[in-house]
This record gives sequence, structure tokens and C-alpha cells, in this order.
Amino acid sequence: MNCTITEKPIYITSEKKIQQANQNPNSRKIYIETYGCQMNVSDSETVLAVMLENNFGYTEEIELADIILINTCAIRDNAEKKIRNRLQYFNFFKKNKPNLLIGLLGCMAERLKEKLLEEEKVLDIIAGPDAYRTLPKLIEEADNGREAVNVLLTRDENYGDISPVRKDKNKVSAFISITRGCNNMCAFCVVPYTRGSERSRNPETILRELQEIKTEGYKEITLLGQNVDKYKYKDINFAKLLKLTAEEAPDMRIRFATSYPQHFTDEVLETMASHENICRYIHLPVQSGSNAMLKKMRRGYTRQYYLDRINAIKNIVPDSAISTDIITGFCDETEQDHIDTLTLMQEVKYDYAYMFKYSERPETLAAKKYIDNIPEEIKSRRLEEIIKLQQQLSLESNQRDVNKTFEVLAEGYSKKSPEFLFGRNSQNKVIVFPKQNNKPGDFINVTVKKCTSATLIGER
Ligand code: SAH
Ligand code: F3S
Repeated sequence: MNCTITEKPIYITSEKKIQQANQNPNSRKIYIETYGCQMNVSDSETVLAVMLENNFGYTEEIELADIILINTCAIRDNAEKKIRNRLQYFNFFKKNKPNLLIGLLGCMAERLKEKLLEEEKVLDIIAGPDAYRTLPKLIEEADNGREAVNVLLTRDENYGDISPVRKDKNKVSAFISITRGCNNMCAFCVVPYTRGSERSRNPETILRELQEIKTEGYKEITLLGQNVDKYKYKDINFAKLLKLTAEEAPDMRIRFATSYPQHFTDEVLETMASHENICRYIHLPVQSGSNAMLKKMRRGYTRQYYLDRINAIKNIVPDSAISTDIITGFCDETEQDHIDTLTLMQEVKYDYAYMFKYSERPETLAAKKYIDNIPEEIKSRRLEEIIKLQQQLSLESNQRDVNKTFEVLAEGYSKKSPEFLFGRNSQNKVIVFPKQNNKPGDFINVTVKKCTSATLIGER
């Protein structure tokens, strides 16, 4: 009888891949800078994998780079301004190194396309979020002095077969992208235009990546998507995927982001409740507490629907922390709409919030149909009131944790003193505590003794 043994392919760690690629003295070195959301951080890891696979090297020192890649964000105007300023700085390196290539990747590349080559002479390459496999070819085109632009969006690219190359030296926390794109079309948001339509990755490739991360020694993963609740692959929905990952890696912490109120199910909450290693933290962006604003934003839920979801969280996973995103000063926002946001915040008692002034983005429905008519000083004043309230809520939330003991996953050394480590508890709160014999990557039980609105300070 013929007996064949199928061997599992040997997984080469990220460190080793970088080492091997850099052994070739002739390999051109890539330097990558990443702006914006966690998804961009994850995408940069995919980009690095593509580049190393194609015989490029990697450097963390900009002076040694042959190719600078900058992975960008377009969510608000100030994100783009920051990147344009940064390009001026890169220009300086180009003057001293004429063969240096500079490529702009990600959402800003997708939004502005070839126009950017005109506007920013320093740029040689433009690649949108679905074009990273073609980067080696784009580099070749740029070498030959041709315009190197690929901003095609696809329906199916999700880089599922690529093993991202992660650079975190402490190996604590890793991202896994589970969906790409977004179909929600919130009126203010540019993401559906820059990242294209929603698609879910084959769960087998997600579990393969989870195994690789485990082999590397990471302790925590975050499943990423613009709207993870829309994850769907055959009969596997997000709750089932969450269960699969939690059970595949019982010693690891599992996080996920971002949840969407309209699609966030009790099944997900029940899966959290029955798996201790799924972290007690839910980021549920509300954007506004006013029904009129929610309707205008095309969010697809009402204030009451949102509050019902919050109640479901509090009933099913009572120890979960909750955070949110808030936009202030959206088109036609009245003082009463603003007050509705403040009262909603008080009602939910968010543990944390990301708060933004509305920034009109070309192409979006809001830019086409509405007028950005809230004066800057009113936006600023409303934002200040929202931030002030959140600081108070965060402080109260932290005060409730004093004298409680949490399991903390140490992430690194405190900036203020190397004698202290910082890490997060399951609720995603940062806790600083004496290092003693521990190091990043360790799980340690810490009792909270003091707090500020931003940090918990603990002892063993
Ligand atoms: N679902 C996504 C949302 C991406 S954008 C996620 O993964 O988080 C993140 C946040 O930026 C949004 O929730 C919203 O609060 C904010 N935002 C988006 N477009 C904006 C705009 N035009 N002006 C101000 N803030 C915006
Ligand atoms: Fe943007 Fe709304 Fe999708 S905020 S990313 S369009 S869920």
C-alpha cells in the first residue's frame, strides 16, 4: 500500500523573514510609515510580506531606505494635512539620494489617485488598499520613470493567503483582518469610497493566521473590520467566527473592532459571556445621541435602538467596558441635538470615547447633499463640552475600579520609569504597576490603588 505523509509547511517567523531578506546585500530596503486606524497597521504588515516575498529588504531607519512607503488615512481633512507635511520632510532625503522612491499607499492614495502625483512632486508611486500585490510591479515602473499608479478596487481581494510580517518586538498583541471595505455608506464617511465594498475572508485562512501568531508567541489578537458584525462566510457569521477563534486559542486574549449598533447581535454577546478569553470590551460607535442627526447620517438606528443594545451588553456581559465614537457639528446640528448627545453619554456612562469635529469629505453623500453649516467655533465649543463630560465619565469609571484586582497583560515599560510596566486589563484599560520580575507578554494580577481619568495605577 502506498502511504504518503503530508507534512505541514514549516512556518517561517516574521523575524526570520526579515533577517533572511536583509542578508542579501543587494536587496533594496523598504521603510514603512503608517497613519490612521488599526486596519492600516494590519495592511502595512501585509505590504511588508509582499515586499519581502519579492526580494526587497526592510529597515526601520529612514536614512537607510531605498524605498519609503507611507500608508495613509483620509478620514478627516487634518489626517491628510499631516501626511502632506510629512511628504515635505521626505523630500529632503530625496535630494541627497536621487534613486530613492517614495510611494503613497492606503485611503488617501485611493481618494486622490493620480492627481497626487501632480500635487506632490516628491511621490513616485500611488497604490490603493486593494493594489498591494502589484507594488513590486509599480516599483519597476517607477524605476523606469513611468507613472506608477494602481487604485483599482476589487470585490474579492482580502489578502487571505498572505501571512503578514509583524514587527512588534515584544510580541504581545497582533491584528487579524477578517473583513475589508464597508457597505454602510454613512453620509459623512469616506471609507466606502477608499476601501471599497465589504468582503469577508475565508475562516480557514483566519485560523491559519491565528496559528502563525500563536507560533510567534503573541498573547492577544484583535479581529479587525470596519463592521465586524457583517462578517459572513457561508454559514459562519461573526459570532461563530469569534467562538472558533476563542476555542482555537484558549490561552490567548481575543478582541475585536469595530462593532456596528444596527448589526450587533445578542449571539455575539452570548459568545463573549461563554468564553472567558474574549475580552470584556466593546467599541460601539454611536456618532450622535439625536435621532434627527442619526437619520441624516444614515446610520440606520435610532437613539432608543442604540440604548437597547447598550442594555443588552449590560445584561449579558455586565463586566464589559464600552467605548464609542462621537462626531460633533454635523450638518444642521442644533443645540438640542448636541444636548441629546451629552445626555446619551451620561445615560450609557462610556468608559472611553473617541471624539471628533465633523470634517466634510468630498464624494460623500453629506458633501453632495448637505451644507457643512456649523461654524468652526461652535464645533469647537461643542467638542470641548463633549470631551469634558467624557473625562468626567472616564474618571468615574476608573474610580469604580479602585481596589479591584484585574489580570493585566503587560505590553511594555512605563515611559516615566523603567521600574514600572504598563498593560491592559480585559476591559482595555491601561494599568501601570511595579515591574518586579516581570516583562512584556506576561499576565499579572494587579490591584488598582489609584487612578486618573486616563490611567489606573496598581500594585500586585
Ligand atoms: N467602522 C469604522 C469607522 C471608521 S472611521 C471603524 O472601524 O472604526 C472611525 C470614526 O471616525 C467613525 O466612527 C467616526 O466617528 C469618525 N469619522 C468618520 N468620518 C468622519 C468625518 N467625515 N468627520 C469626522 N469624523 C469622522
Ligand atoms: Fe464609515 Fe459607517 Fe462604514 S463610519 S467605515 S461607512 S460603518
